Amino acid sequence: MKNHQIAVLAGDGIGPEITEQALKVLRFVERRNEVSFELIPVAFGAGAWFETGRSFPDASREACDQADAILKGPVGLGVEASKKIPPDEQPERGGILPMRRRYDTFANFRPARLPAELAHFSPLKPEIIGDGIDFIIIRELVGGLYFGKKETGVNQRGLRYAREHLEYDEFQIERIARVGFETARKRRKKLHSVHKSNVLKSSVLWSGVVGEVGRDFPDVEVVEVLVDAAATYLCLDPGQFDVMVMENLFGDILSDQAGGILGSLGLMPSACIGPGKAYYEPSHGSAPDIAGRNIANPYSMIGSVAMMLEMSFGMKEEADNVWRAMQSVFAGGYSTPDLSKPGSGVTMVGTDEFGDRVIAALQAAGQK
Ligand code: IPM
Ligand code: MG
Repeated sequence: MKNHQIAVLAGDGIGPEITEQALKVLRFVERRNEVSFELIPVAFGAGAWFETGRSFPDASREACDQADAILKGPVGLGVEASKKIPPDEQPERGGILPMRRRYDTFANFRPARLPAELAHFSPLKPEIIGDGIDFIIIRELVGGLYFGKKETGVNQRGLRYAREHLEYDEFQIERIARVGFETARKRRKKLHSVHKSNVLKSSVLWSGVVGEVGRDFPDVEVVEVLVDAAATYLCLDPGQFDVMVMENLFGDILSDQAGGILGSLGLMPSACIGPGKAYYEPSHGSAPDIAGRNIANPYSMIGSVAMMLEMSFGMKEEADNVWRAMQSVFAGGYSTPDLSKPGSGVTMVGTDEFGDRVIAALQAAGQK
């Protein structure tokens, strides 16, 4: 029997309640497969800061170092509450970025998927959605402005200034480009390389390196698109995209837009993959305004578990079962109040009942 250690970072806000549903799925998968998951609770985020003075305490680092994979809930506080924590120690700068750097999780997979039956979640018109939405953003996650040198001060004119460096070298671009091509090869063999080469030198380098890597993937068609144009096309015709690869900040912005066209960031799970370690997290924040009310949809967290099953543990079949189970709960007319308005014809259920229904759907599928 295989045993996998999973560090579980439930996080802040809605984190604990959606994580609980994801753990139900892991326990279910464990029961019907020759596998056992050792779930290790790990403090991380604003809660950890208030307890220990660190968003990513040393003990948590050690637990994550030991684990085979990391399941991380959303972290952070509302703007006002955040002010209690010094800026560099807030969970984003003091937790998430150090985690990404520590495990060099350069490849961030953000699938945006909405089957045609669920088109009503999307703000786009049905004729634009067509057969549904299905593309994936591959975001470079450990370079660019996020990790460049930063400097603040007062300039010679006596004005306060801030300077941040946007730097990529060809190694960084090549490795994420390869992930993009390999992903495209497994899908519809079309790769959109997103950049801003009409202005940024880093994008000129990006475009050149992606072209060079492309010679190793003659079966994949490369389409170059400027990031601002890509934002428009995502609204007007998302069906033209299959795999999109881009640098860190562009990926941050366009992946939120992808959540917007699905109807909610709550439908955006993600995988952050490094050479030796991977962590899985929803693409959204901790939604403190709806925390603790049993109304947040756990899709992004359960989807992150599905990605972990496939990418860390090679359990693709179970991962597909989990996706299908979630879609079938939605298709059965159930939703949670954060995603759907009363009167929209759905049966409203709480976070925990949604999780239970996913388990029931998994069970039913297994009995066929
Ligand atoms: C994301 C988030 C993070 C990012 C924040 C919380 C640091 O927005 O994962 O997209 O900007 O990468
Ligand atoms: Mg973001």
